[in-house]
Amino acid sequence: MAQVDLELVIKIFPGGVRAVDEVSLHIADQEFVVLVGPSGCGKTTTLRMIAGLEEITAGTIRIGNQVVNRMPPKDRDIAMVFQNYALYPHMTVYKNMAFGLKLRGMRSEEIQARVKDAARILDIEHLLDRKPRALSGGQKQRVAVGRAIVREPAAFLFDEPLSNLDAKLRVTTRAELKRLHQRLKTTTVYVTHDQEEAMTLGDRIVVMKDGVIQQADTPLATYNFPANRFVAGFIGMPPMNFFDGVVKSVDGQLIFEEGANPDPQRSPGGARQTPANDLTLPGNGFTLSIPSHLADRLGGYVGKHVVLGIRPEHMDVRPFETTQSALIDVKLNVMEPLGNNMDLYVSTSLRDQVVARVEAQDGLRIDAPIRLYVDLRKVHFFAPGDPGMNLSHTSEPAHAIA
Ligand SMILES: Nc1ncnc2c1ncn2[C@@H]1O[C@H](COP(=O)(O)OP(=O)(O)O)[C@@H](O)[C@H]1O
Ligand SMILES: [Mg+2]
Repeated sequence: MAQVDLELVIKIFPGGVRAVDEVSLHIADQEFVVLVGPSGCGKTTTLRMIAGLEEITAGTIRIGNQVVNRMPPKDRDIAMVFQNYALYPHMTVYKNMAFGLKLRGMRSEEIQARVKDAARILDIEHLLDRKPRALSGGQKQRVAVGRAIVREPAAFLFDEPLSNLDAKLRVTTRAELKRLHQRLKTTTVYVTHDQEEAMTLGDRIVVMKDGVIQQADTPLATYNFPANRFVAGFIGMPPMNFFDGVVKSVDGQLIFEEGANPDPQRSPGGARQTPANDLTLPGNGFTLSIPSHLADRLGGYVGKHVVLGIRPEHMDVRPFETTQSALIDVKLNVMEPLGNNMDLYVSTSLRDQVVARVEAQDGLRIDAPIRLYVDLRKVHFFAPGDPGMNLSHTSEPAHAIA
């Protein structure tokens, strides 16, 4: 087993695409790290550079203290599991799992022992004589994992290994992969675009955007203390609601007044590039008191454009058990029952598509005005624009970048 280190790693593809931009990351021995981010953010490229399948443009990659920049993949002592499993169709499951070991010249008794062992762990002993075409998607996935396990590598690399499975199987297989890691404790780098998968699997999750690490932190810290608006919007489902507005000082109390952003969707890819002076204050937006624990931080922003972030689960039609709450008036547009919860799609007078996740209940009427409590202990404020640094932290958090 081994630690994996990336130091200022850059990948520029021929043609100039900067796929990975100065990525530095320390992955501890036995750690399960998940790289997560939207499609095209550089996750696969990062993984392939660790595997040696992609040359690095600049920087240093170490596996267990050894610089591997120029080392061919077969010498790196890592095993990669791909999204499409990449099984040999003409070989049985046994041969698929044994093949890599055979190539390495391992004795056949040892190969047999390892394959049997892995098959038992993965519960595929009864499939060893089958060919891949006679397997379900979930079974193929296990064989692919089995092929990685038998190598007993220093690290596992997974690239979206669950994305070809249906939703239910994805959840159960996810739990199995987690158990597998608890058992084998092999250092793992796992790539997914699915924030829920990342949250549930990772000891640490590394949120990437445009080839750049935005935050590397535990799942809970990432959820509770997102470093910027991108992370805040990417982690958590339904996504955090964002409201443009200004900070005002009224009788010594700091308040947030919702303003109107003329066209927040204008810039491509949803990146909000709106300059501060684009914001208008028509006067019919909601206001709320800025909670005392954030007053120090936001005192310097009086008169300035900020972005308020409220997670759907921190708004409710019933009061929270705190004195630190606010009420905002909204109109209820759509209700989505989810069983024990329901999502309320509401609009303020200045914007729509605001989501509140509340306890399931009867008695709410569509198109009617309702009041939503906001748990002020849980709100965030961000700088406008991209990446929208989180202003709610007292200092640049130690967990922002590992
Ligand atoms: N072989 C390649 N040649 C040129 N550009 C590439 C190549 N592979 C990936 N890219 C580009 O690099 C960026 C990152 O891709 P990738 O690492 O596959 O992202 P992700 O896995 O996060 O979806 C994308 O813009 C992608 O189009
Ligand atoms: Mg990818």
